[in-house]
Amino acid sequence: MIIFGGMGDLAMRKLLPALYMAFLHGNLPPTTRILSTGRQDFNREAYLAHIEANSRSFIAASNFNEKTWDGFLKLLEYVRLDVQAAADFSALAQASRAAAQRVFYLSTAPSLFTTICDKLAASNLVDANARVVLEKPLGTDLASAIAINEDVGRHFAESQIYRIDHYLGKETVQNLMVLRFGNSILEPLWRAPNISSVQITVAEEVGVGSRAGFYDGAGAMRDMVQNHLLQLLCIVAMEPPTSLSPDAVRDEKLKVLRSLRRLSLADIARDTIRGQYIRGVSGNQEVPGYHEEKNVPQDSKTETFVALRAFIDTWRWSRVPFYLRTGKRMARRSSKIVVEFANPPFPLFPQTAGAVANRLVIELQPEEAIKLQLMAKQPGSGMEMQQVALNLDLQSAFQQRRAEAYERLLIDVVRGRLTHFMRRDELEAAWQWADPIIEGWQTLDEKPHPYAAGSWGPAESFALLARDGHSWVE
Ligand code: BG6
Repeated sequence: MIIFGGMGDLAMRKLLPALYMAFLHGNLPPTTRILSTGRQDFNREAYLAHIEANSRSFIAASNFNEKTWDGFLKLLEYVRLDVQAAADFSALAQASRAAAQRVFYLSTAPSLFTTICDKLAASNLVDANARVVLEKPLGTDLASAIAINEDVGRHFAESQIYRIDHYLGKETVQNLMVLRFGNSILEPLWRAPNISSVQITVAEEVGVGSRAGFYDGAGAMRDMVQNHLLQLLCIVAMEPPTSLSPDAVRDEKLKVLRSLRRLSLADIARDTIRGQYIRGVSGNQEVPGYHEEKNVPQDSKTETFVALRAFIDTWRWSRVPFYLRTGKRMARRSSKIVVEFANPPFPLFPQTAGAVANRLVIELQPEEAIKLQLMAKQPGSGMEMQQVALNLDLQSAFQQRRAEAYERLLIDVVRGRLTHFMRRDELEAAWQWADPIIEGWQTLDEKPHPYAAGSWGPAESFALLARDGHSWVE
């Protein structure tokens, strides 16, 4: 495995710890070697010292084992490489000449993907066995995504390309497929008009941190909605695939993306809400607003929050609103999907405040739970209703260790399993839907709505649902 951007933040925080965990559990082939590349003039010793200092602490203490760690470090090598220098690629070819199979992990800015792939090919490093992993962001719009796909596709066949969306590696996200297609009781209800709305929330407690340089040019739409939230929407909305083969699953997801209704400028003005956090209190601490964060321009209109209403124009989902919401510096970290069912056709019981529609709540993180909210009779002489939940706590139902998303996805790459990676046409269809929204926002040229750090986002986001008689489930 050859990691470009091997000295970067993602490599230190996620990739190397994930590879360590895969090694610890015997999931790396015994002949594995990991070459990290970077521009620093390090020798192997200095590189290993860098990892000790910057990566080791991201392995949970309960998983850390000195002997295994030493064994893991033996797999690692460092190759100094400037991606612009053809000669450095010859050195890389030399360092990896004994490899029966090469996996290239491109954890760099996407602007470098083309030159890296061209030079890999020119150095005869790309053969039919090779695989390439592409980290997000995969473009900033449709045109740039197509350019990346074209350039990488010149050297690698689609079956060799692993486009990462780490949400697809999460245990709870993979479980969504089992919930939907491993059970028979949900499927007959899983459609309009039985379902009246779907909510998908990915709320983060953290702010932009040290990533403003990247984030300010991206915003929540490109950073979260175009990829992670749309992938969740696809799994909720897709038709049952005919098998778990990569193409069978990705064909169905693609159909959902292609059926997403394009938003007109009027739709964008009415059905999308952009927000930006201002100073507030998060985790009992006062935290700065987005404009006060390091490297954020004073006049930045970048959204750190998005809420929107989308429709999927198919028989199954006709007129069912899908509400998507994501933001930084929200009240707490919480990702969940709420499927709200239609009200009973006839109100037999007193319609007191306790009478609400049935909901299936799928908690993805940090809790892992599936709750079916039903109506029950309030004890007493009347016939008043109250909501109660059938509550499946997946954390206590399964005691086994949960692998981190990156660990699971890296093992998939090693084993050649593409199902949980995005195909080219999926990526492009997602941008096709997102692009007009981002352009519409530019045309409208409005400032995002302020919301206090530590809150659930701007008031306008609540109004978006209230208008349709719905409300966000916190
Ligand atoms: C990344 C985004 O893809 O996902 C980050 O770039 C975000 O901005 C992160 O914080 C969220 O991932 P998770 O796994 O913590 O929910």
